[in-house]
Amino acid sequence: MFDASPGMLQSSVPTPRESLSHDVLLQAAVEAGQAAGTLLLRYAETGFQIEYKNPINLVTDADRAAEQCVIDLLKTRFPDHHFLAEERGRDDEGSSPYRWIIDPLDGTTNFAHGYPTYCVSVGLEYEGRCIMGVVFDPSRNELFTAFEHRGAYLNGRPIHASNTKALDSSLLVTGFAYDIRETKRNNLDHFAKFALKAQGLRRTGSAALDLCYVAAGRFDGFWEVRLSPWDMAAGSVIAREAGGRLTDFSGNNLSIYGQELVASNGRIHEAMLAVLNQAPHQT
Ligand code: IPD
Ligand code: CA
Ligand code: CA
Repeated sequence: MFDASPGMLQSSVPTPRESLSHDVLLQAAVEAGQAAGTLLLRYAETGFQIEYKNPINLVTDADRAAEQCVIDLLKTRFPDHHFLAEERGRDDEGSSPYRWIIDPLDGTTNFAHGYPTYCVSVGLEYEGRCIMGVVFDPSRNELFTAFEHRGAYLNGRPIHASNTKALDSSLLVTGFAYDIRETKRNNLDHFAKFALKAQGLRRTGSAALDLCYVAAGRFDGFWEVRLSPWDMAAGSVIAREAGGRLTDFSGNNLSIYGQELVASNGRIHEAMLAVLNQAPHQT
Protein backbone atom coordinates (compact mmCIF):
# COMPACT_ATOMS: atom_id res chain seq x y z
CA MET A 1 0.00 0.00 0.00
CA PHE A 2 1.15 3.51 -0.75
CA ASP A 3 2.33 5.54 2.21
CA ALA A 4 2.02 9.32 1.72
CA SER A 5 5.72 10.17 1.54
CA PRO A 6 7.28 12.90 3.70
CA GLY A 7 8.58 14.57 0.52
CA MET A 8 5.08 14.94 -0.76
CA LEU A 9 3.69 16.21 2.52
CA GLN A 10 6.32 18.84 3.39
CA SER A 11 6.24 21.98 1.34
CA SER A 12 6.71 25.70 1.90
CA VAL A 13 3.37 26.60 0.30
CA PRO A 14 0.95 27.85 2.98
CA THR A 15 -2.04 25.70 3.93
CA PRO A 16 -5.58 27.13 3.86
CA ARG A 17 -6.22 29.59 6.69
CA GLU A 18 -8.21 27.12 8.80
CA SER A 19 -6.28 25.26 11.43
CA LEU A 20 -6.24 21.86 9.68
CA SER A 21 -2.94 21.15 7.98
CA HIS A 22 -2.80 19.76 4.48
CA ASP A 23 -1.03 16.60 5.58
CA VAL A 24 -3.76 15.77 8.14
CA LEU A 25 -6.44 16.16 5.46
CA LEU A 26 -4.49 14.28 2.81
CA GLN A 27 -3.54 11.42 5.10
CA ALA A 28 -7.19 10.95 6.13
CA ALA A 29 -8.37 10.95 2.51
CA VAL A 30 -5.66 8.46 1.52
CA GLU A 31 -6.56 6.14 4.39
CA ALA A 32 -10.27 6.36 3.58
CA GLY A 33 -9.73 5.80 -0.15
CA GLN A 34 -7.44 2.83 0.39
CA ALA A 35 -9.69 1.22 3.00
CA ALA A 36 -12.74 1.55 0.74
CA GLY A 37 -10.77 0.31 -2.29
CA THR A 38 -9.65 -2.77 -0.37
CA LEU A 39 -13.28 -3.37 0.57
CA LEU A 40 -14.31 -3.14 -3.10
CA LEU A 41 -11.72 -5.77 -4.04
CA ARG A 42 -13.11 -8.05 -1.34
CA TYR A 43 -16.64 -7.65 -2.70
CA ALA A 44 -15.35 -8.29 -6.24
CA GLU A 45 -13.87 -11.59 -5.04
CA THR A 46 -16.68 -12.77 -2.79
CA GLY A 47 -19.78 -11.43 -4.61
CA PHE A 48 -22.22 -8.53 -4.36
CA GLN A 49 -25.90 -7.67 -4.78
CA ILE A 50 -27.05 -5.49 -7.68
CA GLU A 51 -30.01 -3.08 -7.59
CA TYR A 52 -31.23 -1.03 -10.56
CA LYS A 53 -31.75 2.75 -10.31
CA ASN A 54 -32.97 2.46 -13.93
CA PRO A 55 -32.36 -0.29 -16.55
CA ILE A 56 -28.74 0.82 -17.16
CA ASN A 57 -27.91 2.57 -13.87
CA LEU A 58 -26.79 0.05 -11.27
CA VAL A 59 -25.87 0.27 -7.64
CA THR A 60 -24.41 -2.56 -5.57
CA ASP A 61 -24.05 -3.25 -1.88
CA ALA A 62 -20.32 -2.71 -2.49
CA ASP A 63 -21.04 0.95 -3.46
CA ARG A 64 -22.89 1.44 -0.17
CA ALA A 65 -20.34 -0.37 1.99
CA ALA A 66 -17.46 1.60 0.46
CA GLU A 67 -19.31 4.88 1.05
CA GLN A 68 -19.98 3.93 4.68
CA CYS A 69 -16.30 3.08 5.10
CA VAL A 70 -15.11 6.46 3.75
CA ILE A 71 -17.65 8.49 5.71
CA ASP A 72 -17.07 6.62 8.99
CA LEU A 73 -13.35 7.29 8.83
CA LEU A 74 -13.67 10.95 7.82
CA LYS A 75 -16.45 11.69 10.35
CA THR A 76 -14.36 10.23 13.14
CA ARG A 77 -11.49 12.58 12.24
CA PHE A 78 -13.59 15.61 11.23
CA PRO A 79 -16.99 15.44 12.96
CA ASP A 80 -17.95 19.03 12.01
CA HIS A 81 -17.25 18.78 8.29
CA HIS A 82 -19.93 18.71 5.61
CA PHE A 83 -20.38 15.79 3.23
CA LEU A 84 -21.79 15.18 -0.22
CA ALA A 85 -21.73 11.51 -1.14
CA GLU A 86 -23.31 9.85 -4.17
CA GLU A 87 -25.48 7.27 -2.42
CA ARG A 88 -26.32 9.19 0.78
CA GLY A 89 -26.58 12.73 -0.54
CA ARG A 90 -25.82 15.87 1.45
CA ASP A 91 -24.96 16.32 5.12
CA ASP A 92 -24.49 20.07 5.60
CA GLU A 93 -25.13 20.38 9.31
CA GLY A 94 -23.14 23.12 11.07
CA SER A 95 -20.99 25.86 9.57
CA SER A 96 -17.74 24.15 8.59
CA PRO A 97 -15.90 25.59 5.54
CA TYR A 98 -14.95 22.03 4.55
CA ARG A 99 -17.08 19.68 2.44
CA TRP A 100 -15.98 16.18 1.46
CA ILE A 101 -17.31 15.05 -1.92
CA ILE A 102 -17.28 11.29 -2.29
CA ASP A 103 -17.88 8.78 -5.07
CA PRO A 104 -17.34 5.48 -3.26
CA LEU A 105 -17.26 3.47 -6.49
CA ASP A 106 -16.75 5.34 -9.74
CA GLY A 107 -17.17 2.77 -12.47
CA THR A 108 -20.02 0.72 -11.01
CA THR A 109 -20.99 -0.84 -14.36
CA ASN A 110 -17.38 -1.97 -14.87
CA PHE A 111 -17.28 -3.35 -11.32
CA ALA A 112 -20.54 -5.24 -11.79
CA HIS A 113 -19.20 -6.91 -14.94
CA GLY A 114 -15.83 -7.79 -13.42
CA TYR A 115 -14.04 -5.27 -15.66
CA PRO A 116 -11.29 -3.93 -13.40
CA THR A 117 -11.49 -0.20 -14.12
CA TYR A 118 -13.06 1.53 -11.13
CA CYS A 119 -11.95 3.61 -8.20
CA VAL A 120 -12.80 5.39 -4.98
CA SER A 121 -12.87 9.18 -5.34
CA VAL A 122 -12.52 11.50 -2.34
CA GLY A 123 -12.49 15.25 -2.97
CA LEU A 124 -12.46 18.15 -0.52
CA GLU A 125 -13.88 21.65 -0.87
CA TYR A 126 -12.83 24.57 1.30
CA GLU A 127 -15.23 27.52 1.20
CA GLY A 128 -16.69 26.14 -2.03
CA ARG A 129 -13.33 25.66 -3.80
CA CYS A 130 -11.98 22.17 -4.58
CA ILE A 131 -8.61 22.00 -2.83
CA MET A 132 -7.76 18.32 -2.58
CA GLY A 133 -8.33 15.11 -4.47
CA VAL A 134 -7.54 11.47 -3.76
CA VAL A 135 -8.47 8.75 -6.26
CA PHE A 136 -7.58 5.13 -5.56
CA ASP A 137 -7.71 2.38 -8.19
CA PRO A 138 -7.50 -0.81 -6.13
CA SER A 139 -7.11 -3.17 -9.11
CA ARG A 140 -3.85 -1.51 -10.19
CA ASN A 141 -2.88 -0.25 -6.72
CA GLU A 142 -2.65 3.26 -8.17
CA LEU A 143 -3.18 6.16 -5.80
CA PHE A 144 -3.58 9.61 -7.36
CA THR A 145 -3.31 12.56 -4.97
CA ALA A 146 -3.23 16.34 -5.25
CA PHE A 147 -3.53 19.35 -3.00
CA GLU A 148 -3.98 22.89 -4.26
CA HIS A 149 -0.62 24.50 -5.23
CA ARG A 150 1.35 21.36 -4.32
CA GLY A 151 1.27 19.35 -7.53
CA ALA A 152 -0.23 15.99 -8.42
CA TYR A 153 1.20 12.57 -7.62
CA LEU A 154 0.78 8.94 -8.58
CA ASN A 155 1.92 6.64 -5.78
CA GLY A 156 4.03 9.50 -4.43
CA ARG A 157 5.72 10.44 -7.74
CA PRO A 158 4.91 13.74 -9.49
CA ILE A 159 2.73 13.46 -12.59
CA HIS A 160 2.19 15.92 -15.45
CA ALA A 161 -0.26 16.36 -18.30
CA SER A 162 1.03 15.44 -21.77
CA ASN A 163 2.75 17.68 -24.31
CA THR A 164 0.69 16.56 -27.30
CA LYS A 165 0.00 19.59 -29.47
CA ALA A 166 -2.61 18.48 -32.00
CA LEU A 167 -5.93 16.63 -31.90
CA ASP A 168 -4.66 14.51 -34.76
CA SER A 169 -2.08 12.92 -32.47
CA SER A 170 -4.22 12.91 -29.30
CA LEU A 171 -5.75 10.05 -27.36
CA LEU A 172 -9.09 11.30 -26.04
CA VAL A 173 -11.63 9.85 -23.66
CA THR A 174 -15.29 10.46 -22.92
CA GLY A 175 -18.30 8.89 -21.23
CA PHE A 176 -22.06 8.75 -21.45
CA ALA A 177 -24.61 9.57 -18.78
CA TYR A 178 -27.26 7.11 -17.64
CA ASP A 179 -30.02 9.09 -19.35
CA ILE A 180 -28.46 8.42 -22.78
CA ARG A 181 -31.69 6.72 -23.93
CA GLU A 182 -33.92 9.60 -22.88
CA THR A 183 -32.06 12.79 -23.78
CA LYS A 184 -30.98 14.38 -27.04
CA ARG A 185 -27.95 15.74 -25.19
CA ASN A 186 -26.46 12.24 -25.25
CA ASN A 187 -22.90 13.06 -26.42
CA LEU A 188 -23.14 10.80 -29.48
CA ASP A 189 -22.71 13.68 -31.91
CA HIS A 190 -19.52 14.85 -30.14
CA PHE A 191 -18.29 11.27 -30.03
CA ALA A 192 -18.72 10.90 -33.80
CA LYS A 193 -16.87 14.17 -34.47
CA PHE A 194 -13.90 13.40 -32.22
CA ALA A 195 -13.67 9.84 -33.61
CA LEU A 196 -12.78 11.40 -36.96
CA LYS A 197 -10.37 14.01 -35.58
CA ALA A 198 -8.38 12.29 -32.81
CA GLN A 199 -5.71 9.62 -33.08
CA GLY A 200 -7.79 7.46 -30.76
CA LEU A 201 -10.91 7.64 -28.63
CA ARG A 202 -11.74 5.62 -25.49
CA ARG A 203 -14.64 5.16 -23.06
CA THR A 204 -13.31 3.72 -19.81
CA GLY A 205 -16.43 3.98 -17.64
CA SER A 206 -14.81 5.90 -14.78
CA ALA A 207 -14.79 9.69 -15.04
CA ALA A 208 -12.58 10.09 -11.96
CA LEU A 209 -9.92 7.84 -13.51
CA ASP A 210 -10.32 9.64 -16.85
CA LEU A 211 -9.36 12.90 -15.10
CA CYS A 212 -6.42 11.20 -13.37
CA TYR A 213 -5.24 9.77 -16.69
CA VAL A 214 -5.26 13.29 -18.19
CA ALA A 215 -3.16 14.28 -15.16
CA ALA A 216 -0.74 11.42 -15.80
CA GLY A 217 -0.42 12.18 -19.53
CA ARG A 218 -2.09 8.88 -20.49
CA PHE A 219 -4.96 10.76 -22.12
CA ASP A 220 -4.51 14.14 -23.79
CA GLY A 221 -8.11 15.23 -23.37
CA PHE A 222 -11.45 14.26 -21.80
CA TRP A 223 -14.91 15.70 -22.25
CA GLU A 224 -18.30 14.66 -20.93
CA VAL A 225 -21.78 16.10 -20.35
CA ARG A 226 -24.03 15.60 -17.33
CA LEU A 227 -21.44 14.46 -14.83
CA SER A 228 -22.12 14.86 -11.10
CA PRO A 229 -19.97 16.73 -8.55
CA TRP A 230 -18.71 13.45 -7.04
CA ASP A 231 -17.47 12.30 -10.47
CA MET A 232 -15.32 15.44 -10.83
CA ALA A 233 -14.36 16.83 -7.39
CA ALA A 234 -11.19 14.84 -6.69
CA GLY A 235 -10.07 14.24 -10.28
CA SER A 236 -10.42 17.89 -11.24
CA VAL A 237 -7.89 18.95 -8.57
CA ILE A 238 -5.53 16.18 -9.66
CA ALA A 239 -5.77 17.16 -13.35
CA ARG A 240 -5.35 20.88 -12.59
CA GLU A 241 -2.37 20.33 -10.29
CA ALA A 242 -0.74 18.23 -13.02
CA GLY A 243 -0.86 21.23 -15.35
CA GLY A 244 -4.13 20.41 -17.08
CA ARG A 245 -6.79 22.91 -18.12
CA LEU A 246 -10.41 22.42 -17.05
CA THR A 247 -13.38 24.33 -18.41
CA ASP A 248 -16.95 24.02 -19.57
CA PHE A 249 -17.68 23.87 -23.32
CA SER A 250 -17.56 27.70 -23.52
CA GLY A 251 -14.07 27.89 -22.03
CA ASN A 252 -15.21 29.13 -18.60
CA ASN A 253 -13.50 27.72 -15.51
CA LEU A 254 -14.93 24.34 -14.55
CA SER A 255 -17.65 24.18 -11.92
CA ILE A 256 -18.16 20.67 -10.56
CA TYR A 257 -21.84 21.63 -10.20
CA GLY A 258 -22.12 22.45 -13.92
CA GLN A 259 -23.20 20.17 -16.74
CA GLU A 260 -20.12 20.23 -18.99
CA LEU A 261 -16.51 19.20 -18.53
CA VAL A 262 -13.50 19.58 -20.80
CA ALA A 263 -10.15 18.55 -19.30
CA SER A 264 -7.00 18.56 -21.36
CA ASN A 265 -3.26 19.07 -21.36
CA GLY A 266 -3.99 22.72 -22.24
CA ARG A 267 -2.35 22.54 -25.67
CA ILE A 268 -5.29 20.87 -27.41
CA HIS A 269 -7.95 22.63 -25.37
CA GLU A 270 -9.00 25.27 -27.89
CA ALA A 271 -9.18 22.63 -30.62
CA MET A 272 -11.44 20.50 -28.40
CA LEU A 273 -13.69 23.48 -27.64
CA ALA A 274 -13.95 24.23 -31.36
CA VAL A 275 -15.19 20.68 -32.06
CA LEU A 276 -17.62 20.78 -29.12
CA ASN A 277 -19.07 24.05 -30.39
CA GLN A 278 -19.51 22.99 -34.03
CA ALA A 279 -23.10 22.85 -35.21
CA PRO A 280 -24.54 19.35 -34.65
CA HIS A 281 -24.65 18.30 -38.31
CA GLN A 282 -21.00 19.20 -39.10
CA THR A 283 -19.29 15.82 -38.77
C1 IPD B 1 -20.19 7.03 -13.95
C2 IPD B 1 -18.80 6.95 -14.53
C3 IPD B 1 -18.84 7.02 -16.04
C4 IPD B 1 -19.53 8.28 -16.52
C5 IPD B 1 -20.92 8.35 -15.92
C6 IPD B 1 -20.83 8.31 -14.39
P1 IPD B 1 -20.65 5.73 -11.63
O1 IPD B 1 -20.16 7.01 -12.53
O2 IPD B 1 -17.98 7.97 -14.03
O3 IPD B 1 -17.53 7.05 -16.59
O4 IPD B 1 -19.61 8.24 -17.91
O5 IPD B 1 -21.51 9.57 -16.34
O6 IPD B 1 -22.12 8.42 -13.84
O7 IPD B 1 -22.11 5.60 -11.78
O8 IPD B 1 -19.92 4.54 -12.10
O9 IPD B 1 -20.25 6.15 -10.25
CA1 CA C 1 -19.40 8.30 -10.63
CA1 CA D 1 -20.53 5.82 -8.09
